[in-house]
Amino acid sequence: MMLNEILGTKYPIIQGGMANIATGEFAAAASNAGALGLIGIGGMNVDMLRDNIRICKEKTDKPFGVNLMLMHPEIDDMVAVVLESDVKFVTTGAGLPSKYMPDFKKKGIKVMPVVANVTFAKKMEDLGADLIIAEGTESGGHVGEMSTMALVPQVVDAVNIPVVAAGGIADSRQLVAAYALGAIGVQIGTCLLTSVECPIHENYKNAVIKAKDSDTVVTGRIAGTPVRILKNKMTREYIRLEKQGADVMELEKYTLGALRRAVFDGDIATGSVMAGQVAGMAKEIRPMEDILKDMYEGTAKVLEDVKSKLG
Ligand SMILES: Cc1cc2nc3c(=O)[nH]c(=O)nc-3n(C[C@H](O)[C@H](O)[C@H](O)COP(=O)(O)O)c2cc1C
Repeated sequence: MMLNEILGTKYPIIQGGMANIATGEFAAAASNAGALGLIGIGGMNVDMLRDNIRICKEKTDKPFGVNLMLMHPEIDDMVAVVLESDVKFVTTGAGLPSKYMPDFKKKGIKVMPVVANVTFAKKMEDLGADLIIAEGTESGGHVGEMSTMALVPQVVDAVNIPVVAAGGIADSRQLVAAYALGAIGVQIGTCLLTSVECPIHENYKNAVIKAKDSDTVVTGRIAGTPVRILKNKMTREYIRLEKQGADVMELEKYTLGALRRAVFDGDIATGSVMAGQVAGMAKEIRPMEDILKDMYEGTAKVLEDVKSKLG
């Protein structure tokens, strides 16, 4: 079964949860444009989640879901809101969803954990996950070590449930590549940051548009909290302190509230301007519908090119 059949969407594409960005309105726009829109609980409290689910339902009649960051301090209450809100899909990150699986199953909610290696993919399959989102280190936000190219086929070979590829996917060539690696569809984030509908500050959007291929860096590899961000004053200072052996609490001072500063205040010098390596491919601000349509419809031409090259 292809991803769009499983999700009931037009395209085999999931809009990845993005802390402080993926609101109910944004998720509804993604769903209306043909993807599975996800509301991200990162940066929300329980009331905000409830409101955002309501707003999403008001703005779309298409399927949508919720991205659950399992290390969220109010995660139990967040899950309770999801369970009472007739949400059909959840993605999970930063931990094991074991505790919640029986309730998700009872409600018929499809559980789609995001993983960065084969060990976690297998664990999630054992827990009863419906599909795996294998996310490579090219991705924006929290990342693992492995690249999408190396990770996805190894996860596909290791599990018996469908696999969705994430990390470094922004156009039809990369969508076709994800299929070639054995995925049934993709999850995207960075290429939607420059959509008209994305609620980030215009300075953030412009920073992504200006970014070159090598303008991202991963902070926190040493502290064990690796996050891919556009290089700026904050990342330079963070990495300097990290190399000097600063403790986690000291480093936290740099990141605490830093994403919100970039998203809401447009502070791209000391804010955390999270974005993936495909930021270098974003050239302009475009409606989400155009981004998704071009990505999907462009695959026919890419496949012709591939066939002609293979002879
Ligand atoms: C700004 C930003 C914030 C993100 N926040 C989250 C998050 O809160 N939860 C999560 O599971 N993934 C998060 N991600 C990862 C995305 O959901 C998605 O998997 C990723 O962006 C895909 O890779 P790409 O950035 O190369 O498209 C974030 C990504 C970005 C760019």
